[in-house]
Amino acid sequence: MTTPRIFGTPLSPSATKVMLLGSGELGKEVIIALQRLGVEVIAVDRYPNAPGHQVAHRAHVINMADGAALAALIEQEQPDLIVPEIEAIATDTLAALEQAGKITCIPTARAAQLTMNREGIRCLAAETLGLATSPYRFASSLAELEAACAQIGFPCVIKPVMSSSGKGQSKIDSAAEVKAAWDYAAAGSRVDAGRVIVEGFIDFDYEITLLTVRSLGADGQIETSFCEPIGHLQVHGDYVESWQPCRMDPVALERARDIAHKVTANLGGMGVFGVELFVKNDMVWFSEVSPRPHDTGMVTMASQVQSEFELHAKAILGLPVNVALRAPGASAVIYGQHEAKAIAFEGVADALRVPGSDIRLFGKPESFARRRMGVALATADDVETARTRAKEAASRVKPVLAK
Ligand SMILES: Nc1ncnc2c1ncn2[C@@H]1O[C@H](COP(=O)(O)OP(=O)(O)OP(=O)(O)O)[C@@H](O)[C@H]1O
Ligand SMILES: [Mg+2]
Repeated sequence: MTTPRIFGTPLSPSATKVMLLGSGELGKEVIIALQRLGVEVIAVDRYPNAPGHQVAHRAHVINMADGAALAALIEQEQPDLIVPEIEAIATDTLAALEQAGKITCIPTARAAQLTMNREGIRCLAAETLGLATSPYRFASSLAELEAACAQIGFPCVIKPVMSSSGKGQSKIDSAAEVKAAWDYAAAGSRVDAGRVIVEGFIDFDYEITLLTVRSLGADGQIETSFCEPIGHLQVHGDYVESWQPCRMDPVALERARDIAHKVTANLGGMGVFGVELFVKNDMVWFSEVSPRPHDTGMVTMASQVQSEFELHAKAILGLPVNVALRAPGASAVIYGQHEAKAIAFEGVADALRVPGSDIRLFGKPESFARRRMGVALATADDVETARTRAKEAASRVKPVLAK
């Protein structure tokens, strides 16, 4: 039983303070939602002027994987809640501070620890919880990987255990390609360059993100709610388009919710989780989970009464949430297309002339060809029209080199 929080005044001794670890486009929207509730927000990222830095009360630039630097900043700021927005942080430090009763980490430090490494979350899902996943093996050398691939069979997918957004990930069809996949994984890995997972390729019909919210009910107990499923399209392991609701076989939806319930109940705490699932007919496989809002969930800024960011802000503060759909919607990513600092965007007005559309530009100080710099959103009476509109709006925004 937890009692509701009392809200203070920002920038005063009574302030309710939240620290975001990672301040990209997802963190920026969580911060805006927190600001609307009168919360004092401290945004942290590894580079200056990150999207979330620009809308927070205070901004800090540190290496969040450096446990000592992270602990020192937490000591200085004394936040009531710590909200990880990215995976690559010193989660062991967070776990030690949580254990000592010095911090509250969202949803829990253990969830952040388990999900930053594919090995942790996969073993929990498949071995502890008995959920259906792709067949998998881990390998720490090329020889081990060759043996693992032979056991799993082809095609298979090879990924560094610590990476995101498809970095270092490859799908291979034969033993001849294993060495190239190993080298590519080593280059794309975030921290531990020496360990990979190999997964059997699942020939799914479609994949979804099931946003699952753990929030405080009126009785003081945690309740679990599910948003409508979000369908999405991935290119090179990175999301390019998403839509909600994704039409699903009712048996598959039931299974998806059951899986999401089990995995989020085990991870615990409060907030939004993005449960990634593969679906074929009425079969559902667990893929992975983010213990935080999900990039494919940006569609909810258009399609839901409360976006996943508002849901996260409310849930972590112990407030009730509303996961209702507002209208069928879609999102389409706007890439930088240039390798340059301080780019500009033409065609925003044209984009907003697409019926039912909206645009978010993240304000990232530096563009890369495949860096996500913005997103187009759209609603319509049906998902197909919303997808067409979002893609059309995204295509009208033209990143250009500033004069
Ligand atoms: N075993 C698999 N079978 C079929 N497709 C897969 C498999 N593993 C991954 N994929 C495809 O690659 C995409 C990215 O994989 P995954 O989510 O594991 O990587 P990621 O780098 O964590 O991506 P992100 O951080 O963007 O979620 C999946 O959404 C899916 O489209
Ligand atoms: Mg993923």
